[in-house]
Amino acid sequence: MTSSAAQTPGAALYETSGLVDQYLEFHYGPEALGVRNFPAACVEAIMKAIGPGSRDRCLDVGCAVGRSAIELARQFSHVDAIDYSAGFIAAAVQLQDAGSLDFRVPTEGVLTVDRRVSLADMQATELASRIAFATGDACDLPADLTDYDLVFAGNLIDRLYEPQLFLTAIAERIRPGGWLAITSPYTWLEEYTPKRHWLGGYTDAAGNPMTTLAGLTAALAGSFSLHQRQDVPFVIRETARKHQHTLAELTIWQRHCRPF
Ligand SMILES: C[S@@+](CC[C@H](N)C(=O)[O-])C[C@H]1O[C@@H](n2cnc3c(N)ncnc32)[C@H](O)[C@@H]1O
Repeated sequence: MTSSAAQTPGAALYETSGLVDQYLEFHYGPEALGVRNFPAACVEAIMKAIGPGSRDRCLDVGCAVGRSAIELARQFSHVDAIDYSAGFIAAAVQLQDAGSLDFRVPTEGVLTVDRRVSLADMQATELASRIAFATGDACDLPADLTDYDLVFAGNLIDRLYEPQLFLTAIAERIRPGGWLAITSPYTWLEEYTPKRHWLGGYTDAAGNPMTTLAGLTAALAGSFSLHQRQDVPFVIRETARKHQHTLAELTIWQRHCRPF
């Protein structure tokens, strides 16, 4: 089958003009321009950074069509995977249920090429059954999404309508000593985030530049310490010959062990 259309009004920005297929290609298609698969590269970097520890429960928030959730399920017993977009979650669930998913990507003009992603080809048939995909709002998560060893927010914060809401609420959902991993290229846009809610990318009242890393540090300082940061590149294919080549910053934060 071909991936289904959008249902959730708030997800419209992600479900127009073939964006579900574009994200299926981004998560499951062949590597482009020699850059590693982004979700897999992020999970590998996170696991290396956090070292050994509890591998019980994990949350992938803003999971899109599910590749990082699959990579996290190789490491954790249970993965909750949440996204605002009904179309993205429908594609992830169709892959999980059917074991394979067909989609189509543009090459040039009106020409396209057919693709198929298969869980068996990724050695992911068993582990996909340990992922609970659901639509949800990162800024208003249900109460039962809690008690995590790791929360991964991949390229999410600069797409949230109020990122501070997410950052404030996420601490109490992570076990003491547990981890929050955030990636973002910090591409703040008012069509996603009203400027008054940007974490950085602006000058403050005194005219000083405020970076997003500084904003994240200020927002998380009460509950987390920054453990590691590194750049992770990614490529989103638009056509056979046109790509978005971007550099995300991965920051890994450890929740303080003392009670709030
Ligand atoms: C730039 S995409 C990144 C997707 C994926 N994590 C990745 O790295 O490929 C941002 C994702 O955040 C989701 N999103 C935006 N606002 C959200 C919200 N309030 N709650 C949950 N997900 C949201 C979008 O639907 C989209 O899947």
